[in-house]
Amino acid sequence: MSIHYSEHFPEAGHFRDRFRIPHGPGRHDCLYLCGNSLGLQPIAAADAVEAELERWASLGVAGHFDGPLAWMPYHRLATDNLARITGAQPHEVVAMNSLTVNLHLMMTSFFRPSGARRRILIERGAFPSDRHAVASQLAYHDLDIDHDLVELAPRRDGLLHEEDLEDYLERYGEQVALVLWPGVQYASGQVFDLPRIARACQKAGVILGLDLAHAVGNIPLELHEAGVDFAVWCSYKYLNSGPGAVAGCFVHDRHAEFDGPRLAGWWGHDEKSRFRMGPDFRPMRGAEGWQLSNPPVLALAPLWASLEIFAEAGMKHLRRCSLDMTGHLAHTITERVGEHIRILTPLEPHRRGCQLSLQVKAGRKAGRNLFERLEAHGVVTDWREPDIIRVAPVPLYNTMAETDTFVDLVEKLL
Ligand SMILES: Cc1ncc(COP(=O)(O)O)c(C=O)c1O
Repeated sequence: MSIHYSEHFPEAGHFRDRFRIPHGPGRHDCLYLCGNSLGLQPIAAADAVEAELERWASLGVAGHFDGPLAWMPYHRLATDNLARITGAQPHEVVAMNSLTVNLHLMMTSFFRPSGARRRILIERGAFPSDRHAVASQLAYHDLDIDHDLVELAPRRDGLLHEEDLEDYLERYGEQVALVLWPGVQYASGQVFDLPRIARACQKAGVILGLDLAHAVGNIPLELHEAGVDFAVWCSYKYLNSGPGAVAGCFVHDRHAEFDGPRLAGWWGHDEKSRFRMGPDFRPMRGAEGWQLSNPPVLALAPLWASLEIFAEAGMKHLRRCSLDMTGHLAHTITERVGEHIRILTPLEPHRRGCQLSLQVKAGRKAGRNLFERLEAHGVVTDWREPDIIRVAPVPLYNTMAETDTFVDLVEKLL
């Protein structure tokens, strides 16, 4: 595979000094390749939380209305940056809740089985929480999971093909009410052509929802342009906003005035009349209309602090750095340890993000052994059953040199 190194600025790792790097053995920085699971802590996150603790201490309830960090609209500090990262208009995105909660809120509104159109299509091997969520939605509508939950299988190459989804919708589209698809598949690291999937759904008259847990902050997204109906994501992976961070939700502009069923709360009610405390619910326009509660300010502080770094770096630059760095890693793995290790992630640049999913050819035991020995040497990757080691160089804080160190060590340990 030929690797193209671009000469653009900033290079991978340019923002490394904005992050706290955990220690490995001997108090050296560990080799952290696990941003696909939990992104590192931006130094600014602690300052942002401290600032809110201080405002709470000094202002009490007045903090809701005081100054540019007023808590009432605090969630909006994240809005413009989230819109840029997801290719959305600001009113199409909101920071709230967690991923699975948002998924249920979205499906309550947009999964509307009727007549023959009542199936949900997901990928086989979907993240368990997504499968639980769709299965429970089907059960909630008294539908039969065996019949109405369709799981599209990967081909023999282990990958899911957009063409197969198109074929399914061509043939059975009239029976499908919702497609729930990942932007990046969590186990294989495969990136999907989301505009193409959106076109297929639109042609079949099917609602498209996306799980962007592994896509947001990793690959460029154009949700508005593609016409995706809704999307949900978490913020603790590539968005570096901390364990269990406040998640995000996108609702396309075409649903901005949505008047169908929704699970409602007072924070989704029109903000101008919210504090009149009336009994009727009048939703906010756009994604904010799905908010339930007043936002958890201390949890939101790291999110907006982290998103400011993305605003500075820019997704286009990060993506180019990522293509270089992950491409380089794939290349060196193939060259030097390819005899022992299979890369499950497709290697064409448009079909991969930061993550590579590795499988040790000698089997699960050897794979687990390598994973544990890497860990003992201060290399943080993660393990996904049955036998996958996921590694993700992240362009904000990882460097090209680290990918070489990783392969040196793998070669030695093998
Ligand atoms: C692809 C994917 N979907 C859903 C989830 C569940 O997220 P949460 O626990 O924030 O609801 C995760 C968590 O890692 C995930 O990776």
